[in-house]
Amino acid sequence: MASYKALAYILLATTLIVVGPTAAQLSPTFYDTTCPSVSSIVEDVVRQALQTDARAGAKLIRFHFHDCFVNGCDGSVLLEDSAADGIDSEQNAPGNAGIQGQDIVANIKTAVENACPNLVSCADILAIASNAAVVLAGGRGWEVQLGRRDSRVANRSGAASNLPSPFEPLQNLTVKFANVGLDSTDLVALSGAHTFGRSRCLFFVGRLRNFNGTGMPDPTLDPVYRDILIEACPDNETRVDLDPTTPDQFDNNYFSNLQGNRGLLSSDQVLFSTPGAPTIATVNSFAASPDAFSDGFGASMIKMGNISPLTGTDGEIRFTCSRINPLPAVADM
Ligand code: HEM
Ligand SMILES: *[C@@H]1O[C@H](CO)[C@@H](O)[C@H](O)[C@H]1NC(C)=O
Ligand SMILES: *[C@@H]1O[C@H](CO)[C@@H](O)[C@H](O)[C@H]1NC(C)=O
Ligand SMILES: *[C@@H]1O[C@H](CO)[C@@H](O)[C@H](O)[C@H]1NC(C)=O
Ligand SMILES: *[C@@H]1O[C@H](CO)[C@@H](O)[C@H](O)[C@H]1NC(C)=O
Repeated sequence: MASYKALAYILLATTLIVVGPTAAQLSPTFYDTTCPSVSSIVEDVVRQALQTDARAGAKLIRFHFHDCFVNGCDGSVLLEDSAADGIDSEQNAPGNAGIQGQDIVANIKTAVENACPNLVSCADILAIASNAAVVLAGGRGWEVQLGRRDSRVANRSGAASNLPSPFEPLQNLTVKFANVGLDSTDLVALSGAHTFGRSRCLFFVGRLRNFNGTGMPDPTLDPVYRDILIEACPDNETRVDLDPTTPDQFDNNYFSNLQGNRGLLSSDQVLFSTPGAPTIATVNSFAASPDAFSDGFGASMIKMGNISPLTGTDGEIRFTCSRINPLPAVADM
């Protein structure tokens, strides 16, 4: 009798072991035998790019975020318009308007292909580059999960509906994150990426004078910071530091900025200034502790990086990140 029970447990355990790996398909060791230097190759190109472009790392992590929120982390955001391939680029969706960094991705891809041809996906390149960006800006990295493959489709309408807008209230931001399996702690942690990089003025000038038709500035915007922003924005296209305290450092000052009403975008400030919101306590804990932020950011980046990846034999390893691969020539009939 007892042995039947034991056997049942053994069978159950065996089933779990067999099923386990299909549930968690990405792995930090995915390229260990096939392309062991991939992370350092990517990091070298990001380091090089940073020498002439202080925003290089910021551009790359934003690309990874916009990739993962639309059809999962599958490199779909990198595809450019191609009538021949039936690609209507996600880069044409409002949430991606003016997104930058395609040139850096192309340079990384070239360096990776030179060392390990036809092995590393563009989706994984964005994940590795995001970690490199954070480390090179003085932040703590995380154990990057790998093994994603690239899509053969883009989803422009998905980008239009899934990407968050800087004009949305907290409730809407929370719903968009929940739609991809991220909770309000992830929302706060990941918004911490606004500790570096820039925003164009068009995304926040509405807060400076006549907020929401009230005839008054946004009451959750510090008046001194507001004066600085008015000076900093002669036109809508000018770019301003997302973190006025340490603009290019990856640190937790973003959260103390929010406590001081110095969040640049409304979507930043609402995390702290929405009355009764659960995000307030999270902002406070990240502002109080660099380690709490590093732990939280790494955990949430891994969660975001796990959004419906293509794995196994699904999708492909693109030769060029901006184009799907040509199909093999069909043999003569
Ligand atoms: C919570 C919702 C979010 C909203 C509404 C939002 C919105 C924006 C906007 C409007 C910009 C400026 C774009 C431009 O001027 O062209 C921006 C920049 C940026 N975002 Fe976000 N974002 C959000 C979350 C995130 C997340 C989760 C990440 C990464 C994990 C991220 C990383 C960045 C970075 C690094 C930049 C600067 C890019 C550069 O300098 O080119 N953002 N974001
Ligand atoms: C595009 O994205 C939307 C929103 O996530 C989703 O409902 C839809 O199935 C996607 N379409 C394709 C063709 O992947
Ligand atoms: C917030 O979401 C609601 C419900 O989907 C929508 O009606 C509203 O337009 C959204 N607000 C903004 C500012 O996007
Ligand atoms: C500003 O207006 C938008 C769009 O109508 C609305 O969703 C948002 O909640 C308003 N924000 C405040 C602080 O009133
Ligand atoms: C600048 O952007 C704001 C907000 O998006 C918009 O209302 C305004 O019309 C723009 N101004 C110009 C000159 O394009």
